[in-house]
Amino acid sequence: MILGATGAVGSQVLDQARKDRRFETIVAPTRRSLAAPGKVHNPVIPFDLPLPQANWWAVDAVICCLGTTLRQAGSKPAFYRVDHDLVLACAEQARAAGARVFVLNSALGANPMSRNFYLRTKGEVESAVARMGFERVVLARPSLIDAKREDNRPAEKLGLMASRLLAPVIPKRYRPVSAEAIAATLLRELTGGCGVITLESEQII
Ligand SMILES: NC(=O)c1ccc[n+]([C@@H]2O[C@H](COP(=O)([O-])OP(=O)(O)OC[C@H]3O[C@@H](n4cnc5c(N)ncnc54)[C@H](OP(=O)(O)O)[C@@H]3O)[C@@H](O)[C@H]2O)c1
Repeated sequence: MILGATGAVGSQVLDQARKDRRFETIVAPTRRSLAAPGKVHNPVIPFDLPLPQANWWAVDAVICCLGTTLRQAGSKPAFYRVDHDLVLACAEQARAAGARVFVLNSALGANPMSRNFYLRTKGEVESAVARMGFERVVLARPSLIDAKREDNRPAEKLGLMASRLLAPVIPKRYRPVSAEAIAATLLRELTGGCGVITLESEQII
């Protein structure tokens, strides 16, 4: 299952997963319908809580790239409802339906004790997913995501421009990472040992 398949990272995961013979069926629930031929099943749902009960939650593994921005959400509670509550509600549905692996696209600096609201939210969702009983949980923490975007994100654009210029002198952890590289890492990390694995940005290649 891919959550957030219309987004910058999620759409890359979907593209790469389509070509990957390991996957028999890809379930990609979205709010807007996808061009979803072949092995992609695309339930279109409003993503209001509570989420609908459906057979398609029964998957082996989930890659979650779902999230919003404070600007898009409009307030901290609205942001929290998406990046925390909605992610956990999806994880619960999939876990209850038998999913064994959950791979979360989190963020650099995620920490439930952080004084920064965004990083605290990401840290809280990481901790909650880790306690849900999945056999394998992967928490990937990319730095700034380098991707073409339709929406206007001036602060991100400025950050990307500055970090591209300064890349040679920025420590690897803080360099931007491409959506393609993140997607490849998330897909690769679906398999491996049991437990909770944290991947820092410099490990996303
Ligand atoms: N931007 C960065 O530099 C950065 C850095 C580190 C980590 N991250 C995190 O990485 C994750 C993926 O980032 P991204 O850049 O790929 O995000 P993105 O391009 O903004 O895509 C977000 C995805 O989440 C979905 N979504 C948002 N609100 C939703 C809602 N209320 N209900 C259902 N679906 C919803 C979007 O669906 P729609 O198309 O329907 O809106 C889209 O598929 C996010 O959690 C983000 O916080 C971002």
